[in-house]
Amino acid sequence: MKQVQVHKYGGPEVLKIVEAAMPVIEGWEMLVQVKYASANPKDVLLRKGKLKAFLSIAFPLTLGQDFSGVVVQAGKKIKEYKPGDKIYGMTNRPNNGTFSEYIKVSPQEVCHLPENMDFAEAAAVPLTAQTALQALKDIAKIKPGQHVCINGASGGVGTFAIQIAKILGAKVTAVSSAKNEDICRRLGADIHLDYNTISVEKSNAKYDVFFDVFGNKNWRKTKHLLPNNGWYISTAPNAKNIGDTILSYLKIKNSRLIVVESDYNDLKTLKGWLEKGKLKPVIEKEYPLSEIKEVHKRLETKRVVGKIVLRVS
Ligand SMILES: NC(=O)c1ccc[n+]([C@@H]2O[C@H](COP(=O)([O-])OP(=O)(O)OC[C@H]3O[C@@H](n4cnc5c(N)ncnc54)[C@H](OP(=O)(O)O)[C@@H]3O)[C@@H](O)[C@H]2O)c1
Repeated sequence: MKQVQVHKYGGPEVLKIVEAAMPVIEGWEMLVQVKYASANPKDVLLRKGKLKAFLSIAFPLTLGQDFSGVVVQAGKKIKEYKPGDKIYGMTNRPNNGTFSEYIKVSPQEVCHLPENMDFAEAAAVPLTAQTALQALKDIAKIKPGQHVCINGASGGVGTFAIQIAKILGAKVTAVSSAKNEDICRRLGADIHLDYNTISVEKSNAKYDVFFDVFGNKNWRKTKHLLPNNGWYISTAPNAKNIGDTILSYLKIKNSRLIVVESDYNDLKTLKGWLEKGKLKPVIEKEYPLSEIKEVHKRLETKRVVGKIVLRVS
């Protein structure tokens, strides 16, 4: 089977499409034929070796976290799925890359495909929509009427965060460049700020939650925008955010690093919203797997609008 592998850290040139052995499943796992996967900035960080302090993975690395596909084989202990079922999800296991024709997954990481979606659309959802859902619902526990600022609102996480904050009843301020104001407003943003002309931390605005999707702020820079019980949530795994996260569990600071985990119940919640048309993925472009190097070059610009999806098999 075809698989994207990385045998040494480096630029997009280290991405190789190779013939790899088929995965072998245990009784609690399923073998899945991946139809589509989506590209995430995490793939770039893995390729460059920027996550080696957090994840000790031996070469070759495999990339890709989220996917849509078809169950080919279900282990003896699997009750919920059978061969032929269409599913979508994200692998929580390191080095189980979805830029692969076949992967193995466990039922907790996946859910049946939303009925109104094709494989390309569904693959755009799991990692970034679960990041937004887990940040806004589980950490910030957003209540109707609260005001959320989303910094980095037009990318993969941001386009879902705007829509999920609106579903949860919040008022949304979206921060992106001016060219993406229109998309942010179409997704439901009430206020838009262009980061090239306005410095949100120098404004007099008040928010209940500051979701720093782009990751270039921190709790100290934004705490004056928040009430005492307001939340600063970041996607950036740096020392400051990790330290603050420990303090947040001790109830000393409301500043948390989100670490997304795929969860069946969250995928089911998202499936419900997707089927009702309350939530929609924004897809910038579809590429074949053979163009993985081009995809990485585009990701490195940090200017992707919504998601990039990859046609795998
Ligand atoms: N910790 C976790 O569990 C977790 C989960 C998911 C993602 N992440 C991380 O979260 C970050 C965002 O992920 P993503 O998939 O949303 O990335 P993305 O799709 O590349 O989105 C980046 C967005 O940031 C905006 N942006 C660029 N420069 C900006 C600036 N100076 N200020 C504010 N916004 C700016 C861009 O908008 P314009 O084009 O309008 O400039 C773009 O739409 C990545 O670093 C990723 O690794 C972490």
